[in-house]
Amino acid sequence: MKRFFSTIAIVLMLATTTVSAQKTKPIYLDNNAPIEQRVEDALSRMTLHEKIQVIHAQSKFTSAGVPRLGIRQLNMDDGPHGVREELEWNTWSPAKWTNDSIVAFPSLTCLAATWNRDLAALYGNALSEEFAFRGKDILLGPGVNMARMPLNGRAFEYMGEDPYLAGEMVVPYIKAAQANGVACCIKHFFMNNQEVDRFTANVNASERAINEIYLPAFKKAVEEAHVWCVMGSYNLWQGIHCCHNDSLLNGILKRQWGFDGAVISDWGGTTDTWQAATGGLDIEMGSFTDGKIKESEFTYDDYYMARPMETLIKEGKLDVSYLDDKVRRVLRTMFRTCMNPDKAIGKQCSEDHYEACQAIGEEGITLLRNEKNILPIAPERYKKILVVGENATRSLTQGGGSSELKTLRDISPLEAIKKLYGNKVDYAQGYLSGRALYDQVDEVIPSERVRLREEALRKAKEADLIIYIGGLNKNHKEDCENGDRLGYDLSFEQNELIQGLAKIQKNMIVITFGGNPYAMPWLKNIKGLLHCWYLGSMGGDALAGVLSGKVNPSGKLPVTFAKSLEDYPYYQYGKKAYPGVNKQVYYSEGIYIGYRHFDTRKVEPQFPFGYGLSYTSFKYGKPMLSSPSITNDAPITVSVPVTNTGKVSGKEIVQLYIGDMECSVDRPRKELKNFVKLDLAPGETRMAEFTITLDDLKYYSEAIHDWTVEPGTFRAYLSTNSSDEGCYVEFNY
Ligand code: BGC
Repeated sequence: MKRFFSTIAIVLMLATTTVSAQKTKPIYLDNNAPIEQRVEDALSRMTLHEKIQVIHAQSKFTSAGVPRLGIRQLNMDDGPHGVREELEWNTWSPAKWTNDSIVAFPSLTCLAATWNRDLAALYGNALSEEFAFRGKDILLGPGVNMARMPLNGRAFEYMGEDPYLAGEMVVPYIKAAQANGVACCIKHFFMNNQEVDRFTANVNASERAINEIYLPAFKKAVEEAHVWCVMGSYNLWQGIHCCHNDSLLNGILKRQWGFDGAVISDWGGTTDTWQAATGGLDIEMGSFTDGKIKESEFTYDDYYMARPMETLIKEGKLDVSYLDDKVRRVLRTMFRTCMNPDKAIGKQCSEDHYEACQAIGEEGITLLRNEKNILPIAPERYKKILVVGENATRSLTQGGGSSELKTLRDISPLEAIKKLYGNKVDYAQGYLSGRALYDQVDEVIPSERVRLREEALRKAKEADLIIYIGGLNKNHKEDCENGDRLGYDLSFEQNELIQGLAKIQKNMIVITFGGNPYAMPWLKNIKGLLHCWYLGSMGGDALAGVLSGKVNPSGKLPVTFAKSLEDYPYYQYGKKAYPGVNKQVYYSEGIYIGYRHFDTRKVEPQFPFGYGLSYTSFKYGKPMLSSPSITNDAPITVSVPVTNTGKVSGKEIVQLYIGDMECSVDRPRKELKNFVKLDLAPGETRMAEFTITLDDLKYYSEAIHDWTVEPGTFRAYLSTNSSDEGCYVEFNY
């Protein structure tokens, strides 16, 4: 009996202990508690100094946690095509780890060229798994700045010239990445559309251009994908740096769009304590870098949002509510990522990541010319295949700036072509670009380039097929951060080389890499042209799939390829429009960037936005409308049957553009409002069907500072590219 009572006593004691332990367990550590409660609880326990510590960097790529409370630091990394090599704690030098080689995914321009929302989700999932495995909480990307002009050194990191396409592609990427507990940090907010003077340029654009062109992709990321972090851009807007621009960050991003996450500065993009404290910035990173101020003279405590901000609060000059708002946002980010029990463990360099990389690359490769069906290559037709060009062997994952990657696997085009065609293949480098040096141009001895060209021309005489592999690369002043291209032509005397080769051999296929369009004076002299953007680790294999016909190309251009630089809309406005005069850049072309300009002003492009060929052919049938008119609450649908009329399976991207036939304000002839990618077997017909809502008809009115639409007739074009206006229906509002 005694024993029975003592057992009961022990049970009771244990139960009481558990109950009291449960009672005292702080809410912020309770994984089951709602995030907002955890945030408030954690905030209430933090000292002023601890709060200050979490809103600025403590190393190149981390911001502090609260060790006393068991709150972890935030680990960030570039982004956006793979996890960047580990750097030293305090410098830009590689840490020389031996386990940080990763999968390089295709560039975001390539992803945009797939026009495939499912692939964007695949990308976000695979990439974030690599981030999670490396212990990262914030992925510094994706980027959705607009391709306003074709010289931008960072266009390859973005998703083209159309805000609808970029927005549609970025949403699944972000949703899939964040489902793994890795925050995306969409960048660079906003109008960071050139690299020249990127730290100092003040960008002036009309209210309409801002709302119709430069904000929508970011807005979609916030409103539809609920992106957790946003990176402010270096440039200024209304005279204030975008990293702490009150109107932009507090006004548009946080109040209008309801963004509840953290704004992170671009590295070194913070310039003022008061503006940083009050202008919407939440985490200050990378200050005193980029050679602006000698880093060794400063500690992290000297950051604008460190001791200087703490002093303002202590002296009663700054209300602590500014700080609390930032800390709430930082804590929210922590509970979503590093303090999230469901955060994925992830994996690195797994076979399914390589497969994802290859699948995205294969669908992004864009076929621009295919005379006499030179592609896919019928190997039995050729005895000697000469591959020419530096990009056949050069790593295109290195260079480019912060998106540079250290890969375990990096399959070159030459390697893959040799796998396909064995000893029929010979190679000549043809040209030399110099090494990928960030911030410098590595000059090449001119005689060396001539020697290489002569060798290629000599070998061309013995070949019956030439595969030229060149284009841009990741050198500074090509596709690389902190500099723009110097001109629209391909560099390194490639035009002369291609012309020379084409004179010798009519069977010539040109394959280019690059994030930007370029001039093609030799186009008529070659038979095949493929543009590959950047393809990442599996680049060679992805390309080989298309060359051999195993893969039917289905990419379409997310940017217009103009015939010459002068044809771009900004160009006619001179230096004021680019690169700017006295640090002022005027977007005088307004809303008319890309196809909106070429289409409306009838300037014939080399290849229009949305263009890309296939190894099969498609026929569009008669388009149909569900109703001849649209009303405020009744959307309509438009559909068109599309048939694969060729002999092989293929994918067609059907694009819906809408044009307003008459309006009191100037409007683009038509604008992209939807798209679908159909997979069709030979002879198969499927319907492309789109819902049109009133929002699809609206423009931004500067008179009422809002979106509006005027009654009248509208045209819905069902197009294979933006220049194709053959298939349309009209309806009224
Ligand atoms: C770039 C950002 C990048 C950051 C960190 C900056 O120079 O503009 O895109 O995320 O550096 O590397």
